[in-house]
Amino acid sequence: MPQLTFHGHATVSIHTADSKLVIDPFFSENPHFLGSLDDIEADYILVTHGHYDHVADLIGLAERTGATCIATFEIASFLESQGLNASPQHIGGGVHYPFGYVKLTAALHGGMVNLPGAEAFTTLPAGILINFSSGERFYHAGDTALLTDMQLLKGKVDVAVLPIGDRFTMGPDDAVTAVEFIEPKVVIPCHYDTWPPIEQDAAAFAEKVGDRAKVRVMAPGDILEF
Ligand code: NI
Ligand code: MN
Repeated sequence: MPQLTFHGHATVSIHTADSKLVIDPFFSENPHFLGSLDDIEADYILVTHGHYDHVADLIGLAERTGATCIATFEIASFLESQGLNASPQHIGGGVHYPFGYVKLTAALHGGMVNLPGAEAFTTLPAGILINFSSGERFYHAGDTALLTDMQLLKGKVDVAVLPIGDRFTMGPDDAVTAVEFIEPKVVIPCHYDTWPPIEQDAAAFAEKVGDRAKVRVMAPGDILEF
């Protein structure tokens, strides 16, 4: 049973029986992260895109843990140029890892890579779809607009992490449509309330979703087993 910990913003870790995953490592400057970055463990670090609020602690965490970084080709190439372990993928492509099959999905957002020395690298942002070896199916949408491509995920996702912050990503109403497209069992809203420009009422979002899915509004540090 994968165990997901929400760290605030779009950062989650997922521990399986034999692997520790971190998605979008944004800890030290994440106003909602409660713990210590030194306590974060990772065998694999997955990143949806190169914006600061998704990669700020990527290099430090990868250096300390020796984790394999799973990202689009451009970000992976930059990480390899820094001597880190990376597994390049790209949108639509999947790779089998010991913990499961990871496929990058389309996301519509900005492509800058905000890492020192990475100014020459841009990439397509991605969503992350994981079919865990133990059978559970997980989707982190990353930062994205609502996409009709999400209809392709219908019936393929048990737990979906969706941004609801508006301004830079989908807002709550579009996220409800995303739930209609994907039909996940559980929805975890993310990318809201971190700063004033993306304040949202997660409880109101949950009400709008209604009986389409179970909405788990997670406070930083909350854990979900799925
Ligand atoms: Ni972004
Ligand atoms: Mn973001």
